[in-house]
Amino acid sequence: MSEELVSDDQIFAVLREVMDPELHDNIVDLGMVRSAYVQDQTVHITIALTTAGCPLRATIKRDCESRVNALPGVNNVELHWDELTPQERTRVMDRARSHARSSATPTQIPARTRVLSVASGKGGVGKSSVTVNLAACLASQGFIVGVLDADIWGFSVPRMLGVDSRLNARPAGSDEKRGKIVPLERPEGDGLIKLVSTGLMVDTEETALMWRGLMLAKAVEQFLHDVDWGELDYLLVDMPPGTGDVQMALARLLPQAEMLVITTPALSAQKVAVRVADMARRSHMPVLGVIENMSAFVTPDGKSWPLFGEGGGQRLAAEIGVPLLGSIPLEPAVSKGGDTGQPVAQSGGPAGEAFHEIASLIVNEISPPINMAECSASSMTEVSVTLEGN
Ligand SMILES: Nc1ncnc2c1ncn2[C@@H]1O[C@H](COP(=O)(O)OP(=O)(O)OP(=O)(O)O)[C@@H](O)[C@H]1O
Ligand SMILES: [Mg+2]
Repeated sequence: MSEELVSDDQIFAVLREVMDPELHDNIVDLGMVRSAYVQDQTVHITIALTTAGCPLRATIKRDCESRVNALPGVNNVELHWDELTPQERTRVMDRARSHARSSATPTQIPARTRVLSVASGKGGVGKSSVTVNLAACLASQGFIVGVLDADIWGFSVPRMLGVDSRLNARPAGSDEKRGKIVPLERPEGDGLIKLVSTGLMVDTEETALMWRGLMLAKAVEQFLHDVDWGELDYLLVDMPPGTGDVQMALARLLPQAEMLVITTPALSAQKVAVRVADMARRSHMPVLGVIENMSAFVTPDGKSWPLFGEGGGQRLAAEIGVPLLGSIPLEPAVSKGGDTGQPVAQSGGPAGEAFHEIASLIVNEISPPINMAECSASSMTEVSVTLEGN
């Protein structure tokens, strides 16, 4: 073993930051890490899951790999899987139960929800447009899609989705200390979009001032704790331009969050790539892929005008080692749809089609919805049943 390699203690220390998204506690204290050691420059970790086929395994895997890989001197991480014995399962459930009681309230986002953070290295590249259009595409496929507008001051999602009512709160239930905010809903095809944004709260000078006094990260935390999101297949988070703290808060509060990076086709993607990669690394959030927006303008006769350059999406994807998920052409209908509250994805046209193709790729390949019924014995249900029974 070479000297610069990490110690077992260091490995355990970073694994303590990996949360089980269902049980809301770290995998070391839950007793799920069977072993962790270094051999021949490779870190071997064996993790025992509540049930071997649980679909949340991929989230734990990615989180472990990104954290351990970030340790100095680590070249390779190999994860091995095991299943907890019935006795161990009982112990883990006991621990999760007492943790659930003593720790701060877990977020209102179900563990099975796919969380996609829509981010970019620079502002104005189309994060909000991509968020609302992907939400419309996913909902039209029958999914329940939450949209969290994390752009606290610069909110644009309410306008883009044509929602302008005020958010209401419902009274506290018997097991709650206070009431919850109810998201505004917009039906879409067979599905539903649920929206929360400061734009739906700020109606007087006073409330605006009150929000201004809050830290951005704190506001995002409130949106996750104090909103009754209910069932969600996907949660899309429209990120504000260039803030690391919101990204960090999101990663901390929702360990299952993954990032979609938006860029323009301009080739000057290098600096952006560094910024995005750094943001993802610091928050340990996996990047699922790059979406290029404002690609070549195509005239009705099929002529292509690459007004903002070409190749930036592919180049950025290659630089950060993720796939290019698609390119959305520059099209006046995109901004018109944003202004009128009717996302372009609802009508035809090249941009609308491109959004639908990316949404299908997300559903079928890169971030398929999680069906907890596949989890032969959902530990989440067990924890809540045990909690109710006590
Ligand atoms: N493919 C497109 N074709 C034409 N216009 C577009 C396209 N994508 C976005 N736009 C327009 O560009 C402007 C910026 O887009 P958007 O607000 O979605 O970017 P953003 O990244 O969310 O910006 P910010 O960083 O300020 O939050 C908007 O007016 C939008 O309508
Ligand atoms: Mg925006």
